[in-house]
Amino acid sequence: MTPWNENMRAYAVAQPNIALVKYWGKRDTGINLPAAGSLSLTLDSLWTKMSVEFADEAEFDTLSVNGVPNSTMLERVAACLDRLLGASRPKATVGSESNFPIAAGLASSSSAFAALVMAATRAAGLGGDTLSLARLAGASSGSAARSFYEGIVELTAGDREIDLHCVAGASEWPLRIVIAVTESGPKATGSGEAMIRSAATSPFYRTWLERQDADLDAARTAVTDQDFDRLADVAERNCLKMHSVMWTCRPPVVYWNGATLNAMETVRALRREGVPVFFTIDAGPQVKAVCLPAACDKVAARLGATEGVRQVIVSGLGSGARLLDQD
Ligand code: PMV
Repeated sequence: MTPWNENMRAYAVAQPNIALVKYWGKRDTGINLPAAGSLSLTLDSLWTKMSVEFADEAEFDTLSVNGVPNSTMLERVAACLDRLLGASRPKATVGSESNFPIAAGLASSSSAFAALVMAATRAAGLGGDTLSLARLAGASSGSAARSFYEGIVELTAGDREIDLHCVAGASEWPLRIVIAVTESGPKATGSGEAMIRSAATSPFYRTWLERQDADLDAARTAVTDQDFDRLADVAERNCLKMHSVMWTCRPPVVYWNGATLNAMETVRALRREGVPVFFTIDAGPQVKAVCLPAACDKVAARLGATEGVRQVIVSGLGSGARLLDQD
């Protein structure tokens, strides 16, 4: 039995992260072990807050997302709690609140599962250092492990488990991220399913994995040297390689829309004008432009004026998942 917290409840917040060297593919789907390492930016202006309350007398788990009951995500949330506490755990009331669109390629699963693991382990009175909590979260959503760390984060994938560390703190190299939202509805194919399809059917999947270590080395060195152009080069190439793997699946997985392409072209045009900015795109149609602080206003204005872009969200680099006081 776990030494339950007195009131069996806790509250936590986590920020989503976006990868510059992507996680795309699993070594072991059973334990959700990534097939290769990744490197990401933890954001500061986007957040997910999660409250978890266990009750011995409760018959079912419940989940509400932004105040509305949500059965779609409940199964994954319950599986995560089972993994943490065993299937005979008390049932939980889970409340999630995010200040950005969820399941739309804005990395909401990274912040959601990081905050869930943080709150649930505390509610259950379980200890755990940052790395063990990150590993637990990674078993539910590979990217969630990275949201336990601030700033620029590297995840390395071993044969049986992952390791993580902060490559540069949030204030060490204060990059800015401008997110061009081109569609706020949920995506048609989840990333887990798309990864499995990629491994099974894309002729490029093996080559993609073989080259991940080289991209990771290049990106880590670029961060350590604060070499923006080298980081831009490896990040854009890595993103396009990941999407090439998806496009060559059977059936293909294409997350982009017309506005995604327009936003990419805006970023390229800014680069030609000498503005330090590059793009990355995850499992969704949103374009994330990474830039140096002095370029942020210009990048936001130009992306905001790009045809099909519905909203622009600006963020700096943020902190790792943490507990919050109860209300
Ligand atoms: O953590 P998941 O299962 O939502 O997968 C994340 C996949 C990408 O966002 C596309 C890439 C990444 O490294 O975050």
